[in-house]
Amino acid sequence: MLKPENPLRGDYSQMRADYTVDQDWAAYTPEEHALYRRLVERQSRKLPGYACDEFIEHVNELLTDGIPRFEVANAILGRATGWQIVGVPGLIPDDVFFTHLANRRFPVTVWLRKPEEFDYIVEPDVFHDFFGHVPLLMNPVFADYLQEYGRGGMKAAALGGLGYLARLYWYTVEFGLIDTPQGLRTYGAGILSSGGEILHCIDSPAPHRVRFDLMRVMQTEYRIDRFQDTYFVIDSYQQLFRETAQDFAPLYARLQGLPTIDPSVTVAGDALVPSVRHDDLNRRSAA
Ligand code: PHE
Ligand code: FE
Repeated sequence: MLKPENPLRGDYSQMRADYTVDQDWAAYTPEEHALYRRLVERQSRKLPGYACDEFIEHVNELLTDGIPRFEVANAILGRATGWQIVGVPGLIPDDVFFTHLANRRFPVTVWLRKPEEFDYIVEPDVFHDFFGHVPLLMNPVFADYLQEYGRGGMKAAALGGLGYLARLYWYTVEFGLIDTPQGLRTYGAGILSSGGEILHCIDSPAPHRVRFDLMRVMQTEYRIDRFQDTYFVIDSYQQLFRETAQDFAPLYARLQGLPTIDPSVTVAGDALVPSVRHDDLNRRSAA
């Protein structure tokens, strides 16, 4: 959701009008497949106790050796929720992105990061987009939420609401936490594809973990260049779907008169979730 006026990388010369490109799986080098494999291995070890169950279940169903073939994933994904992934050269304009989501198409960047970007990358690549985002698209409620989000984006553009809606995406789809009977877990793709933040978001006492509140989320600024200072915690994907089903037009109007919130602080009315549940920690170290 960064602005594509300044695409940092990616080949936009061959794309179709909707910004899609063929994946050209045969063009990936053995070194790229090996790098992807290493990324998956490193991340897979960290999932238990940190990623939500839905992610772990579906990431395994989609698992293949090396960089995945989009066609293969699409057969599985299509059967599960009717979503499809489409290859894109990199970041795409907001309106194009929303149109894809509204039609149950998720844009996945075709290129892979360089080895020196193993731990950190500023733009989405195929590892972030595929490994991080696609598993949750297999969950019917989350899948519907993301489609509604796309529809909401098309509408927000006309209402001056894009900035607010971007915060909702950031704090749910990219960096969301979920409270489960086993403890706090993450369902956010930005966390699930990050070697460091996946541990930090659950274990670190530093960040604020605030129970999801739609207006609070849309008031809160975010940083794209470091671990988050605030995470929002949902109880279920149903909650997310339910609370975002209302008409946002009056909310955007109200938000224009409200102050923004700095992510490093908490505000009156926040319901904070304790950082680590000790029973959960014990269970994890016993496992
Ligand atoms: N209900 C929102 C609107 O009326 C659309 C939306 C749905 C936005 C789901 C985000 C997530 O604008
Ligand atoms: Fe993402």
